[in-house]
Amino acid sequence: MATPIITIDGPAASGKGTLAKRLASTLGFYYLDSGAIYRLLALKILSEGLDPDNEDQCVKAARAFVPEFDPARMSIPDIRTERVSDATSRSSRFEGVRAALLEIQRGVAHNPPAPFKGAVLEGRDTGTVVCPDADLKIFLTATAEARAQRRTKELLSRGETVTYEAVLQNLKERDERDSTRAVAPLKPAQDAATVDTSGMDADAALGFVLDLVRKRLASAA
Ligand code: DC
Repeated sequence: MATPIITIDGPAASGKGTLAKRLASTLGFYYLDSGAIYRLLALKILSEGLDPDNEDQCVKAARAFVPEFDPARMSIPDIRTERVSDATSRSSRFEGVRAALLEIQRGVAHNPPAPFKGAVLEGRDTGTVVCPDADLKIFLTATAEARAQRRTKELLSRGETVTYEAVLQNLKERDERDSTRAVAPLKPAQDAATVDTSGMDADAALGFVLDLVRKRLASAA
């Protein structure tokens, strides 16, 4: 039987990370944070003194990055700073960059490491481009204000010096870039279920999505 795949796409700080992680652990599925792959590449671009707005430099860096990709590095805190977030949103808009990173994502989704029996992917285009054949697609969203509040709290708790206003402004700019780029823009797949988490806490969002999983993937839940 084909590996069951669930995709969760949505804008920054919509709660997709928390939801995808908890959903994967509840179902015994592998959790893939596709943004972390783009973030690791952006960190490489910055640390090599390259320009995240230079397409040529970004595509070359992405091609060099693929064979050296180490999944263990997806959890390093250095990829979560505002500087890396901004560079990621810039470098990930180039077609050659996305093409280079596509195979890493598809490979893991279709063949998750043992003992996982399925995969939950989280990102911007996992339901539209990476796995258009996924068994369940969720588009998770929330107002920019609700998302900025969550992100500000998260960054402050990690010791970054930020203000709500700056985070809100940054989120809006990233939303605009992520959803208007020519290649794989952020948008719901035609067959995605849209879930607005503005008034929901993490438990409510998980409960809501688990209900959808039970309806769609009878054997998994
Ligand atoms: O989900 P995140 O905040 O970690 O994503 C960081 C950036 O990476 C985001 O601005 C857009 C980009 N990204 C993408 O283009 N495609 C994905 N599948 C995941 C993330």
